[in-house]
Amino acid sequence: MTDTTSMKHQTPLTSGDFTAADEPFALFEAWLNEAIKSEPNDPNAMALATVDPEGLPDVRMVLMKGFDTGGFVFYSHIASQKGRELAANPKAALLFHWKSLRRQVRIRGNVTPVTDAEADAYFATRPKQAQIGAWASKQSEALESRFAFEQAIAKVAAKYIISEVPRPPGWSGWRITPVRIEFWHDRPFRLHDRIEFRRDAAGQKWSKTRMYP
Ligand SMILES: Cc1cc2nc3c(=O)[nH]c(=O)nc-3n(C[C@H](O)[C@H](O)[C@H](O)COP(=O)(O)O)c2cc1C
Repeated sequence: MTDTTSMKHQTPLTSGDFTAADEPFALFEAWLNEAIKSEPNDPNAMALATVDPEGLPDVRMVLMKGFDTGGFVFYSHIASQKGRELAANPKAALLFHWKSLRRQVRIRGNVTPVTDAEADAYFATRPKQAQIGAWASKQSEALESRFAFEQAIAKVAAKYIISEVPRPPGWSGWRITPVRIEFWHDRPFRLHDRIEFRRDAAGQKWSKTRMYP
């Protein structure tokens, strides 16, 4: 799995005529690597869209913390709005928009929780302050004041002052396994290039369609 927490690096991959790609993951990796070099911050930031029980869409940014042919992974709180929406309807859409490159990637698919071992391993890589914050935040619940949050943080920090911070039980990750991935690249005069990869289910062969912009 590509670790997006330590992305600085990597061999320059030119995307060339990206519409010639015959599967989406290598192309995604090439575009992400270009974005890592060109974006001023958070090249792994993606919009995550879910729907609530009434079918009303919801969208927010999250950080992609890894991807491979199994899907795209992010982490959050299980009891958050997104966590509850995904528990009720485990389908989601993702959107990367790399402004410096004038590119977007749209992803739709099915969502599964990551394993406890995977979540533990990723949590262990987070800075201690962020680990403490994960315990102190009741994400998506009403917060009476900033001070209340700071008090909660201080309490957790005192508890784990000399020991490692374990992963909170309500904090974990999800994997979006794509059945659609669309690549869009800006071209002059709005004659943009778009290709969409589709498959009915994970493990099947992708079909590719070039689309009008
Ligand atoms: C660039 C960016 C990255 C973010 N990354 C995450 C993330 O990885 N996980 C997370 O829980 N929230 C992240 N957030 C905050 C979410 O957008 C959102 O405010 C929060 O998760 C609560 O969403 P919810 O109430 O829909 O569950 C990020 C926000 C921004 C602007």
